[in-house]
Amino acid sequence: MKAILTGGGRATRLRPITYTWNKHLIPLANKPMIFHAIEKVVEAGITDIAINTNPGETELQKYIGDGSKWGANIHFFEQRGGPLGIANVPKQAEEWLNGSPFLFYLSDNIVLGSLKSFADHFINGNFDALMALARVSDPHRFGVPEIVDGKIVYLEEKPAVPKSSYAVTGLYLFSPEFFDAYSTIAPSARGEYEITDIYNWFLANKRNVGYQEITGWWKDTGKPDDLLEANALLLNDRAAGAVRNEGSVDETAIIQGRVSIGKGSVIGAGCLVRGPVSIGSDCVIERSCIGPFTSIGNNARITDAEIDHSIIFCDATISCKRRLVDALIGKNAIVTSAEDTKPNGHKLIIGDNAVVEL
Ligand code: DAU
Repeated sequence: MKAILTGGGRATRLRPITYTWNKHLIPLANKPMIFHAIEKVVEAGITDIAINTNPGETELQKYIGDGSKWGANIHFFEQRGGPLGIANVPKQAEEWLNGSPFLFYLSDNIVLGSLKSFADHFINGNFDALMALARVSDPHRFGVPEIVDGKIVYLEEKPAVPKSSYAVTGLYLFSPEFFDAYSTIAPSARGEYEITDIYNWFLANKRNVGYQEITGWWKDTGKPDDLLEANALLLNDRAAGAVRNEGSVDETAIIQGRVSIGKGSVIGAGCLVRGPVSIGSDCVIERSCIGPFTSIGNNARITDAEIDHSIIFCDATISCKRRLVDALIGKNAIVTSAEDTKPNGHKLIIGDNAVVEL
């Protein structure tokens, strides 16, 4: 079996971060989001992987490489015409798939459990199409199945009145009949080729369509709050047992719980770091309280601050004499104390679509 992972799309709900970052490279537990997806796919035994990109993309290829660091072969292909909808992604990889069944994984979905049983279920159950469902409190944000007597009868994309409390997650398995289905569908009202229309073709044509419920943790990281929650969960999960210190910690600093400190990072006198926390390499942290559920990217400078349940990107500078919670601080961003310069007051340089809560 082969796998296709998404790397394109618009990610408008994550602006301004996504003005300069491909969403799939946003760090979660100090690792690009798409790395978590690649790891899951490889762990399920699939090593032939293709990733679509928006036209002109170069960063994704640079970060990911050829897949050898996961023992996989990774091939990139441009989604010609841009983000035409997720069902359009496999269509543009039809030649690469060469008649193979495939796992289609939306890389902005984070799952904690293994995908192995999902792939095995597809093969053993002789399915033509399989989807993973998760119970959610807000199904109208997702594709939603209508289920009658335990069988899916129809799917709707982001329905105003959902027919069940399940979300179709971004984990799909298809036989090559995907392309017969694709040839019959047209862009939806929002102008996209929808994956729900593909499943509805399989259902209407009496193919063997199944589902598996994800009972463990699953998240679609569409909004900033989702990123913070995914970051916290991954830190908690990954950090099980992972206490690592490759930096230097002052003898008066207190490190509690599962904390990982990267090479060359310095935790100065009087700091309190309360895990789960991941600190990248070459960071300098002084007189600050970090954590829990916080990740700090490489080369960040943090002085006189408290940071809780947050994601700090690489090269950020924070010296604000304040407590930051649920914060997403982008690369090279600076948060300082207004007390240090005159006149007193909040001095803000805020880019388009930024959000500041004072
Ligand atoms: O996460 C699950 C949901 O994903 C499903 O419940 C929905 O049925 C499905 O349509 C999809 O909805 P989203 O609105 O969340 O999709 P989004 O536009 O965020 O794109 C999902 C992924 O696919 C993301 O990694 C970006 C990428 N993408 C998206 C489009 C539209 C592409 O690579 N190319 C595209 O053309």
